[in-house]
Amino acid sequence: MDKVLARGSGSPTARYRPRAALLSAAVGAALVAATVAVATSASAGTTLGAAAAEQGRYFGTAVAANKLSDATYVGILNREFNMVTPENEMKWDATEPSQGQFTYTNADRIVAHAQANGMRVRGHALAWHQQQPGWAQNLSGSALRQAMVNHITQVATHYKGKIYAWDVVNEAFDDGSGGRRDSNLQRTGNDWIEVAFRTARAADPGAKLCYNDYNTDNWNWAKTQGVYNLVKDFKARGVPIDCVGLQSHFNSGSPYPSNYRTTLQNFAALGVDVQITELDIEGSGSAQATTYANVVKDCLAVSRCTGITVWGIRDSDSWRASGTPLLFDGNGNKKAAYTAALDALNAGGTTPPTTTPPTTTPPTTTPPTTTPPTTTAPPSTPPPTGGGCTASLTTNQWPGGFVTTVRVTAGAGALNGWTVTLTVPSGSAVTNTWSAQASGASGAVTFRNVAYNGQVGAGGSTEFGFQGTGTAPSGTPTCAAG
Ligand code: G3I
Repeated sequence: MDKVLARGSGSPTARYRPRAALLSAAVGAALVAATVAVATSASAGTTLGAAAAEQGRYFGTAVAANKLSDATYVGILNREFNMVTPENEMKWDATEPSQGQFTYTNADRIVAHAQANGMRVRGHALAWHQQQPGWAQNLSGSALRQAMVNHITQVATHYKGKIYAWDVVNEAFDDGSGGRRDSNLQRTGNDWIEVAFRTARAADPGAKLCYNDYNTDNWNWAKTQGVYNLVKDFKARGVPIDCVGLQSHFNSGSPYPSNYRTTLQNFAALGVDVQITELDIEGSGSAQATTYANVVKDCLAVSRCTGITVWGIRDSDSWRASGTPLLFDGNGNKKAAYTAALDALNAGGTTPPTTTPPTTTPPTTTPPTTTPPTTTAPPSTPPPTGGGCTASLTTNQWPGGFVTTVRVTAGAGALNGWTVTLTVPSGSAVTNTWSAQASGASGAVTFRNVAYNGQVGAGGSTEFGFQGTGTAPSGTPTCAAG
């Protein structure tokens, strides 16, 4: 987990200074009692951000650029939060209103405000079926795929080094079936999500890359299982993914589930961070307060739950204002929910496990159906008959770029290392490789196995891939054992 400092603390040790100062003042017989009292007060944060930092987490909020001139709003923001998410300003329609013309003014204002006040930034969202500019809504196929890749590259590069975590892909799963949601992006091919993640990694290798969705809180729901299987698949194949965002918009139709902690634990057990990214809980009074406290406790109980973001500051700022789902009322006063959340942060979690146990709860819903790729042909590797290995290519090409997956298949003998050589056409180049080490970028390019996929049993196979600009290689690559 990341080391999270209390905002304004200045150095890793700064937040412990009050304890040290008081300790030195304690004398004689009072020492033991004073130490106990000081330890208690030193761990009690007086704001959400400070209290979360004491637990190694952050506490964030969605921010709207046009509210940064509202003194009450900014006062609460600067006092309470140490992570911000632009609510709309980094979305596709906001950042690329005309194709190839990028406008960052409002998003930049939020990032600048965060940086000036010691807050970090969650980027939201690079690829989403909603809030696309009209020109993108009118694209399809390889033109849309290329536009998506360019958009991700441009925006993630603009904010390179300034983003703690990106919501790379938002809301790609269907609510009912647990399969993929139909959208123009989905219709460019089932691999659009992994292409988005690889593109984001290439543009900003320092940002955590998250998949973000709603209605993924209840472990028994098919949609939760669908996202879980996506993350599991990405981790198995080396597709870069670092975190899962659970939006966690709770209301009577989609209530906080009693197995929420199980869901957090099971995602974390896949080897990704878990972030609660858009929390709001409709209701009021003690019922709402209790649910906020439960969500905080659940996050604190899971060592890889790295932080909580609420989707707005005051109830009046919420996209669901009539449901009064936030921690401050319309006048900026702290609600019972605020106190409950703060108290739960200060109470700390159950001892966080250092390693999360593997999933044991079986899904009770049918596994999601996965949409077959629409742009790639299935690999057709001939069955190997001798020693050595063979390799075959599967490519998704769009104007100006491509993603190629290479399947390496062992012959009659097991492989202990392999190399694949292929020719990247003149004017084209490999820009990003996964699950192999590339030597060269154009012309004859050799890919060597990495540590975890060099050993392949007789007749078995493994995959690696690469992304590039220009035209993808074609034909049958050379594969050599050793
Ligand atoms: O800025 C215009 C304004 O000029 C115009 O007069 C007004 C008229 O409707 O619209 C304003 O834009 C609105 C924008 O919020 C800013 O307030 C859009 O209509 C409205 O659709 C947009 O809603 C946003 C919504 O995403 C769009 O899907 C919400 O603010 C935002 O909170 C919400 O956030 C999403 C997350 O990104 C993803 N998860 C779900 C969450 C809630 O829907």
